[in-house]
Amino acid sequence: MRTVYVNGAYLPENEASISIFDRGFLMADGVYEVTSVLDGKLIDFDGHAVRLARSLDELEMRNPVSKDDLLEIHRELVRLNGIEEGLIYLQITRGSDGDRDFAFPDPETTEPTVVLFTQNKPSMADSPAAKRGAKVISIDDIRWGRRDIKTVQLLYPSMGKMIAKKAGCDDAWMVEDGFVTEGTSNNAYIVKGNRIITRHLGNEILHGITRAAVLRMAREAQMEVEERSFTIEEAQQADEAFTTSASAFVMPVVEIDGVTLGEGLPGKVAMRLREIYLDEMRKTAV
Ligand code: PDD
Repeated sequence: MRTVYVNGAYLPENEASISIFDRGFLMADGVYEVTSVLDGKLIDFDGHAVRLARSLDELEMRNPVSKDDLLEIHRELVRLNGIEEGLIYLQITRGSDGDRDFAFPDPETTEPTVVLFTQNKPSMADSPAAKRGAKVISIDDIRWGRRDIKTVQLLYPSMGKMIAKKAGCDDAWMVEDGFVTEGTSNNAYIVKGNRIITRHLGNEILHGITRAAVLRMAREAQMEVEERSFTIEEAQQADEAFTTSASAFVMPVVEIDGVTLGEGLPGKVAMRLREIYLDEMRKTAV
């Protein structure tokens, strides 16, 4: 059984609880982060801590945990649960004032809820899915307009994964006004020759922590990086495609809406970036 963290306490998962009036539960009034663990260490912890602070700020929510304490809690959960490879899920909600009301409760009297738990994933780096490559389908992006805030409103992304699954695919890429925004839980890229193309930052997509690292590494490896929108048609004609996220790192994409890319195998650029990313992140893990 896992040991989880709830509002200052480390507890067995079946003894942890929060209020039924918690605004995360009633209103999806909460934000989250997913940080990966390799060799028992945290990958890009700083990036996730900075984005968490920004998400809270954008929602006028108080940050109840200092960065140092947050690091300590992450490390303690890794230790208590013996995680060598896996994920740490963190969620902070606006808490509960013991009732349901659309208006925010007074932050002076209502404490945010802080929950963290681990997910043990032994073959995350040596992933069979990454060796095969993912098949994606496109779906309309009907999410709200502030996708740059990492909120827990994940119903549509969850439905998107189910639509993909029913179509025999692994994931869905979302399309708005004719252009790809991002994957259901990852950022989307195409590759043309030595050029990597991914949507520019804005309110329309989550500013991926893995995206920032991978783009930096691509530039350092003398690849060209173009941050602009692209269509599904352009993606289908690209040499390669891939996605990035804290949970899947760099994941090659081999099929888009039934069109096979190249030979239908993970592309060279995607595989090279996956290798560079994993190598470098293992070295800088905390
Ligand atoms: N998802 N875009 C969306 C919509 C996401 O949900 C995620 C991450 C990303 C990639 O961000 P990062 O590189 O910081 O993980 C992009 C996490 C992993 C999840 O929901 O499980």
